[in-house]
Amino acid sequence: MITTQLQTAAYLFAGILFILSLGGLSSQESAKRGVFYGITGMFIAILSTVLGENIEGHIYILVAIAIASLIGVMVARKVEMTSMPQLVAILHSFVGLAAVLVGFGSYLEPHSSELIGSERTIHLVEVFLGVFIGAITFTGSIVAWGKLEGKIRSKPLLYPGRHTVNIILLIISIIMGVLFTMASGTEGMLFLSIMTAIALFIGVMLVMAIGGADMPVVVSMLNSYSGWAAAAAGFMLGNDLLIITGALVGSSGAILSIIMCEAMNRSFISVIFGGFGDAPVATSGVIEGEVTSTTHLEVAELLKEARRILIVPGYGMAVAKAQYPIHDMVDILKKDGKEVTFGIHPVAGRLPGHMNVLLAEANVPYDIVLEMDEVNEDMDKTDIVLVIGANDIVNPGALTDESSPIYGMPVIEVWRASKVIILKRSMAAGYAGVENPLFYKENADMLYGDAKDTVNKLLTHLRE
Ligand code: TAP
Repeated sequence: MITTQLQTAAYLFAGILFILSLGGLSSQESAKRGVFYGITGMFIAILSTVLGENIEGHIYILVAIAIASLIGVMVARKVEMTSMPQLVAILHSFVGLAAVLVGFGSYLEPHSSELIGSERTIHLVEVFLGVFIGAITFTGSIVAWGKLEGKIRSKPLLYPGRHTVNIILLIISIIMGVLFTMASGTEGMLFLSIMTAIALFIGVMLVMAIGGADMPVVVSMLNSYSGWAAAAAGFMLGNDLLIITGALVGSSGAILSIIMCEAMNRSFISVIFGGFGDAPVATSGVIEGEVTSTTHLEVAELLKEARRILIVPGYGMAVAKAQYPIHDMVDILKKDGKEVTFGIHPVAGRLPGHMNVLLAEANVPYDIVLEMDEVNEDMDKTDIVLVIGANDIVNPGALTDESSPIYGMPVIEVWRASKVIILKRSMAAGYAGVENPLFYKENADMLYGDAKDTVNKLLTHLRE
């Protein structure tokens, strides 16, 4: 057992570690350190809470934590990189459920009914808000998990007047909140339960209305909600560390959602209210030029002659798991004295940092993995660009075609290089469903096929 003073000191230390963790996660070089800070902070936080003076039955809690940790390790070891969003979504649902349970527990606790005056009102508002946000996060995250896992159809579920229904439900919840804070003893249980049922329903409908393709933003938004739910639970329990952690998760999740929306040129509000990411949008405008294709041998020859090579990976690299042969190809090219860099678009793939994680997994050195602005600056001096399984993030229409749904999205301007080779399986559109005028440019050639097979074939020719 530890004293309250020691516990407060431990909380402060854990809080600092969480802030350092977020700082560390902001760049690839320091990400591992960031994760380490996070794990240490969480370890200290849990231990100092469980061993606190005011907790009873330590042994049961420690056994439960040991079992849960074992399950956590097993699940995390098994999960594929591509299934990470699903895992994150289902973990958020646990945070939401925990906030709901803490809310009910804290309301029914005998000490709670002893509070009087403004102290009681503040406590009841904390309970009400915590349960409300928690319930939305709980069901919303389960639906997000279902959509990402393919268990629920990803098409947005839209019905006429849904915004009105949501507003009416919100008004009823506010009325329940007022009645709840006015009720004496535990008589507010009925109002709390009605609001919980409404919030659970809102969570389902909110995420059902969002198309599968917008799910990454939704997961990040639910991450933010789960943070606010945890902060609310912190207020209910009078636990400062939970308030700090919840606020950190809540605000960082919100910032990430906004950054993702900006990089996709989507308004945050339209993502939240749903309806996007359903059917592909029609092609935009008439594209001039002709599509030309090339062969593996020709591309290998071009690579041998080139001095500055840029690789722009996209979602297709993740699908094909092409990062490993790409690493080998880069090794050969670098040994041959070539300058090889990667250009990473902020929303390449389907997750924030998707490409960075895959390249790091394949041991591609961090210092050659550059951001969009850096590679755009040097594009005119680049001899050849290999676009590997990317489409929208290299679409020139985003800069010129006002009718395009991705108009205004900053892109990697690969067409400014001397030569562009696009590795993909067909002429199919990408996530936004628009045609790509890049494929019709004079200095661009298509190299059809699965990205992994194609890079392996290029490797064979480069080794010859
Ligand atoms: P996309 O525009 O989706 O294009 C990916 C391309 O990869 C497809 O055109 C596809 O063409 C090709 N491909 C698929 N499997 C392949 C394989 N096995 N081998 C070779 N090519 C393959 O991807 P992007 O350029 O990375 O752009 C990302 C898009 O996702 C953006 O529109 C972005 O707004 C959106 N988005 C991103 C995020 C985040 S946070 N990253 C979140 C939500 C949405 P083929 O079928 O012809 O092969």
